[in-house]
Amino acid sequence: MNDKERVAKYATQKVKNGMVVGLGTGSTANYFIEALAYRIKHESLDVTTVASSLVSMLKAQSLNIPIKAIEHIESLDLYVDGADEVAPDNTLLKGQGADLVREKLLARSSKQFIVLVDSSKRVGRIGEKFSIPIEVMPFAWQIVKLQLEQAGGKGELRLAEKGGLAVSSAGNLIIDMSFDTSLNSHRLNVILNGLPGVVEHGIFQDLADTVLLVENDEIKELIIGSKSLELP
Ligand code: 5RP
Repeated sequence: MNDKERVAKYATQKVKNGMVVGLGTGSTANYFIEALAYRIKHESLDVTTVASSLVSMLKAQSLNIPIKAIEHIESLDLYVDGADEVAPDNTLLKGQGADLVREKLLARSSKQFIVLVDSSKRVGRIGEKFSIPIEVMPFAWQIVKLQLEQAGGKGELRLAEKGGLAVSSAGNLIIDMSFDTSLNSHRLNVILNGLPGVVEHGIFQDLADTVLLVENDEIKELIIGSKSLELP
């Protein structure tokens, strides 16, 4: 069993009967979905789920996990997902799967957001290893890109693996942009939240409740505290 699988399996123990559970996207989230399907089948666990992407929805469906469309839920008990980077203040970088609106909606509306990472995801600052994914309305991409370049950003539209442009399930484009160290993630979060044409972005600040970190076969549970569900 690899580290991602180990931490994903551990996380399923947080799921209790009657919960509405958000399913993340990515290889770690896939292991969680498989382990959850096992508990549903073999332990008669009674849960409803909602997926953060089309890919995860199809995976859950293929494993006979009960699933609702996101438009049919108001809030969640638990959302479990991976991340690309975790900074020392527990700000996350997410979004290699491109479905940033869905992922942040689930993170924001869940009573508990548990993030599953291995030690390779720990960074000194957000943006150290990955560019910041920025989901933009298709007609706004050039304006947004230029404004971010004027703020020191460098980046391009994301390409799809099979050719053409990458498109989110909401029909938007993704610009992957990197910024130099003078713009920290808190400042960037404010800038991106306020930019017209930006639908969502990969900086998840003050959203994680728990980080499950797997390191040398050992799982550490970093409790960050419960986020406020009040409006900022
Ligand atoms: C998808 C994400 C993923 O959680 C992130 O990319 C981590 O993926 P993996 O578990 O495959 O390492 O944010 O948008």
